[in-house]
Amino acid sequence: MKKPILLALSLMLLMLGLTSCNKDQDAKVCVAYFSYSGVTKSVAETLAQVTDATLYEIVPEEAYGDDTMNYNDENARAFKEQMGTAPQRPAIKKTLKGAKKYDVLLIGFPVWYGKAPRVILTFLEEYAHEGQTVIPFCTSDSSTIDSSENELKATFPAINWRHGDRLNDKTAVQLQAWFESFGCGL
Ligand SMILES: Cc1cc2nc3c(=O)[nH]c(=O)nc-3n(C[C@H](O)[C@H](O)[C@H](O)COP(=O)(O)O)c2cc1C
Repeated sequence: MKKPILLALSLMLLMLGLTSCNKDQDAKVCVAYFSYSGVTKSVAETLAQVTDATLYEIVPEEAYGDDTMNYNDENARAFKEQMGTAPQRPAIKKTLKGAKKYDVLLIGFPVWYGKAPRVILTFLEEYAHEGQTVIPFCTSDSSTIDSSENELKATFPAINWRHGDRLNDKTAVQLQAWFESFGCGL
């Protein structure tokens, strides 16, 4: 009679060991984001809180002007950068100290014309590193993350990408659950 109970208990302990993350071995996480009008900023702030991550704002050297708001304006800088008729790696103002220590990078951005803003590409070129896992997230009016993510993956094939998501209107609990869905092995 005792053997089956012991076996069941051992199995339960084994499963617990496999499903719970060891705090000491938890990955170092950085939430890096660019936000023009504040929507992505708010998601990034909550995400950093619930994941106990470092929050880093990607600040373009030259701020985007009011013309950015009108995304039908073909003369706007954002339009020209995204469509490839202006330099496509806008410089970043600050530096991320100790970038190499982050095992996981959550990279957030607003979708601009179906793609990540070019300043995200500048950031990845400068700071993403080998062995790091990168999870993209976006906010948008309606676009999913798919076309932005596909372009990033094609531009940076050496990065260890995980499939990201559009995170508009998520609660803190939902954001935490989203992050945890990637598991302990990040
Ligand atoms: C220049 C520009 C281009 C945009 N392109 C798209 C788009 O292709 N698809 C979409 O759903 N929303 C688009 N939007 C809307 C933004 O992605 C959306 O409002 C986002 O949540 C803003 O985030 P932010 O406040 O962090 O800048 C665009 C907005 C701007 C300013």
